[in-house]
Amino acid sequence: PFPIFTTVDAYREWRRKAMVEGKSVGFVPTMGALHDGHMSLVRHSLLQNDLTVLSIFVNPAQFAQNEDLATYPRTLEADLTRMASLALPSPASPAGDALRSVSALFLPTVKEMYPSGIVQNVDEQRGTFIDVKGYGHQMEGQSRPTFFRGVATVVTKLFNAIEPTHAYFGQKDIQQALLLRRLVQDLLLSHPTPQNLHIVPTLRSSSDGLALSSRNVYLTAPERDVAGVLYAALKRGEEVWKAGGGRDGAVRNATEFVESCARDAEAKGVHVKLDYIEMNDPETFEIVDWDTRLEDGRPVILSGAVWVGKTRLIDNILLGDA
Ligand code: PAJ
Repeated sequence: PFPIFTTVDAYREWRRKAMVEGKSVGFVPTMGALHDGHMSLVRHSLLQNDLTVLSIFVNPAQFAQNEDLATYPRTLEADLTRMASLALPSPASPAGDALRSVSALFLPTVKEMYPSGIVQNVDEQRGTFIDVKGYGHQMEGQSRPTFFRGVATVVTKLFNAIEPTHAYFGQKDIQQALLLRRLVQDLLLSHPTPQNLHIVPTLRSSSDGLALSSRNVYLTAPERDVAGVLYAALKRGEEVWKAGGGRDGAVRNATEFVESCARDAEAKGVHVKLDYIEMNDPETFEIVDWDTRLEDGRPVILSGAVWVGKTRLIDNILLGDA
């Protein structure tokens, strides 16, 4: 139903045609193993653009040597089915009879994305990398020091290849989305512009609020039963914060909640371990101190990461987002 491009050259022919026809191109970068969270980004793109391109590329540069690059879920057939089955009424058709769905899949090889090659050991890497200095070491970067360099590098390459009018990222990975918006601004990119890099709300499981993630398939049934702990902890933190408990109260309560759930889970043979919970400024990513609200009324990020068995889950909520 849609073309699949495995090379930048092949894609560019298609892109040139879209340009000549004056069509806007929305872009949803992913690593595949598509779920409803990804499809929510696609929906946003379908509503705002003439054409929508999705990419699937498991980016080696954002996985540390000890991480799950080799076992990361790869489900191309199911992904294609999912992409083909999403169709929304086209705004251009008053009768609502014309449908709009994904226009193209960009499915490059590692060689295509890394012409100079890529190795996992950062000290042995050669070639060109993008470093958003000062924004990749806090929050997620504290536990994954080379992660954002890998993300910034691949997304810059993807933006150069795809030349999207609009691009869509999930709030689920809030630091990633905000860092990429800064990258686009710093590098004076026009495809997309910073304003056209959109952040879409996190899609969650209706039962316990667990944020949808490709990595959730790693969870065993008993692990899945307790995986909602992080979201529940963040919501606890939010309550305390709203009641005037500040950063310290919110973080302490959320942390204690995870630790108490971890003890209960241990009794059931499920290993839960808190990585971090913290409250950070969305501009600087630095820890927000006591103040219950930043002076200019911007929301703050309450985020965290939890290990459930061998699976690392992350989540965040915005506080003070009216
Ligand atoms: P991936 O984890 O596949 O996620 C692709 C996009 O989907 C990201 O923007 C992510 O924030 C969004 N997403 C994931 N789960 C979501 C959820 N439950 N609700 C809403 N959006 C969700 O993030 C990456 O891939 C990579 O780092 C990538 C940007 C593709 C660069 O390699």
